Amino acid sequence: MALRTRLNEMLDVEHPIISAPMAFAAGGHLAATITGAGGLGLIGGGYGDAEWLERQFAEARNARIGCGFITWSLAKRPQLLDLVIAHAPVAVMLSFGSPLPFARPIKDAGAKLICQIQCMDHAREAVAAGADIVVAQGAEAGGHGLTRATLTLVPEVADYLAKAAPAMVLVAAGGIADGRGLAAALMLGADGVLIGSRFWASSEALVNPAFQERASAADGDSTIRTTVVDVARKIAWPNSFTARVVKTRFVEDWHGRETELAKPEVVDREMQRYVSAMQSGDPDNTGVWVGEAAGLIKDVRPAGDLLREMVRDAERLLRVRAPSLVRSA
Ligand SMILES: Cc1cc2nc3c(=O)[nH]c(=O)nc-3n(C[C@H](O)[C@H](O)[C@H](O)COP(=O)(O)O)c2cc1C
Repeated sequence: MALRTRLNEMLDVEHPIISAPMAFAAGGHLAATITGAGGLGLIGGGYGDAEWLERQFAEARNARIGCGFITWSLAKRPQLLDLVIAHAPVAVMLSFGSPLPFARPIKDAGAKLICQIQCMDHAREAVAAGADIVVAQGAEAGGHGLTRATLTLVPEVADYLAKAAPAMVLVAAGGIADGRGLAAALMLGADGVLIGSRFWASSEALVNPAFQERASAADGDSTIRTTVVDVARKIAWPNSFTARVVKTRFVEDWHGRETELAKPEVVDREMQRYVSAMQSGDPDNTGVWVGEAAGLIKDVRPAGDLLREMVRDAERLLRVRAPSLVRSA
């Protein structure tokens, strides 16, 4: 048995699962592990550090992987796209900004263009850019995003693509962390899933175990969408994007008081607190980047095992549970 969708065909992968290009957390080892397990792994290009990127591609040892960028940040350092293209990525994912300026070079390089979108306006932009794959990301997701929920965004985008760009492949993201989420996403009209938080809590992620432990102990109520973590790091995200993180003491100290946090005499001190706690593995005094899926994460395991279990469970649900729900009258 196997789950076969248009995503398998487009990416030439065994399972319709992509690992998210999580800034700082998704390095070459995680990406190569996901690819090795039958999905497609993406390196997190994040805010763009050429040396780090080169190191991660080296870690991936020529595995078939891709890379993702924060688009508004890539626009400031467009040469990073050439660096990534030189590694012949299977796909390049763009999220958070207009994909138009980068669509042509990505497709000309023979890579699939993945556009992650958070609302219908973004979906229309992805179609205009000629995306091969659209990732519809709901607000349950860890990291940056907007406000729409996965449950309504995915089928709405599916309906829109069916009319506007039927060849475009749709992937769901946000709150998907196990076989139930994968099976549900396929039922919503997606061709596959993109998973961040669950793989963030894997042995291969570049994440301090103290943060993974905090997230595993948390339930889904323990996260919040906030701008505190960006203000504290002095990263000027475009308006309306917020980041989902755990409500750590740092976040609770400042959520709702961002204007005060941004004051020069305050932010320098708090940035130091945030960064040194990030480096030393002190979850109370920094940001722990994980989504509502925290409530579904109970342990830290090898990413390949997590992926295989997800597929096995989704297959079983679709094969056994789905038909059992439909009775002839
Ligand atoms: C730790 C972390 C870092 C992330 N960094 C990025 C990023 O740099 N670029 C990006 O496009 N998405 C990023 N995301 C969002 C993912 O691409 C994806 O949409 C999200 O993880 C899916 O929801 P989930 O976390 O519930 O699986 C990040 C997510 C997490 C958890």
